[in-house]
Amino acid sequence: MRPLICLGIESSCDETAAAVVVSDPEARAGEGRPLGHIRAHLVLSQIDEHKGFGGVVPEIAARAHIDHLDRLVAATMAEAGMTLGGLDAIAVTSGPGLIGGVMVGLMTAKGLALGAGVPLVGINHLEAHALTARLTDGVDFPFLLLLVSGGHCLIAEVTGHGRYRRLGATIDDAVGEAFDKTARLLGLGYPGGPAVERAAATGDPARFAFPRPMIGRPDCDFSFSGLKTAIRQEAQRLKVLSHQDVADLAASFQAAVADSIADRVGRAAKAFVAGHGRGRALVVAGGVAANTALRTRLASVAVAHGLHLVAPPMRLCTDNGAMIAWAGIERLMQGPVDADQGLDL
Ligand code: KG4
Ligand code: ZN
Repeated sequence: MRPLICLGIESSCDETAAAVVVSDPEARAGEGRPLGHIRAHLVLSQIDEHKGFGGVVPEIAARAHIDHLDRLVAATMAEAGMTLGGLDAIAVTSGPGLIGGVMVGLMTAKGLALGAGVPLVGINHLEAHALTARLTDGVDFPFLLLLVSGGHCLIAEVTGHGRYRRLGATIDDAVGEAFDKTARLLGLGYPGGPAVERAAATGDPARFAFPRPMIGRPDCDFSFSGLKTAIRQEAQRLKVLSHQDVADLAASFQAAVADSIADRVGRAAKAFVAGHGRGRALVVAGGVAANTALRTRLASVAVAHGLHLVAPPMRLCTDNGAMIAWAGIERLMQGPVDADQGLDL
């Protein structure tokens, strides 16, 4: 089999991103090496556009995607040193996400695919996060997945392409949302996750005994709204927050989140190992997977249950085009695509 080359387009939230990924036909899953490589990878963050609002404004996001996507794709193709006609497919996020941005990406991709005469593949954004570890580390099925992003927070057992069984999910806020809201409350700005992590680095995680949501519960669900309230109340009690107060609040929040997630993942790992045995991967994906404190905790949870942690590099944890392109290649290898422009019906 020859290498497959796919352009991936991502515009479902506040990152306009495109990448070209090439599969490695020699690589086999489970050998611990990448199943493909990234030939070009560009991400245009809209942070500056949304900063003043403390969060992503869907209409502003959609307009920014319109402004930048064409040129970003052209720059990505130039970086890859190829033309659209040389692609095997164009993959694009078709949901879930902010509908305006998704439409911009989808319409752009459709036009490009039609013009270039290459197949179009619509990709589920969450599946793309999940499959990234196969691109980077050649992870084989089955694996246990923890998906922690701004919009989603779930644990799933992944037994094959399109075969996901949800073991647990958040019953209120996604964990990234909790990071973002905590950052706003502490005046740390946007995006919240990296800002909280930076502040926490000089803070005392033991100063505030925040609740550890859901710990010990028999399911694998998450909850973060109570924790968020506890931080707001503590911040109100302190009235004026010193630099050290902010650092301690951030560190105590992060510790509570890590404890809660470690407990939930531990439960899921136990069930997963009972069904599939030891030696498999615990894959962490989504923007919050960039958090070093969380990664460290997850690595010990994995070891304790006979699993090994696979966390893609930071630039592939947050939204990007490479994960979409790779998911497109996986779909191409499975068979049917969404629109085959080469078909003459
Ligand atoms: O996967 P992603 O880029 O977009 C969604 O699909 O949601 O995730 C974005 C989320 C944001 O909530 C952001 O604050 C969070 O990931 N995040 C982090 C870190 N970096 C990004 N949360 C905690 N620590 C980080 N270092
Ligand atoms: Zn995402």
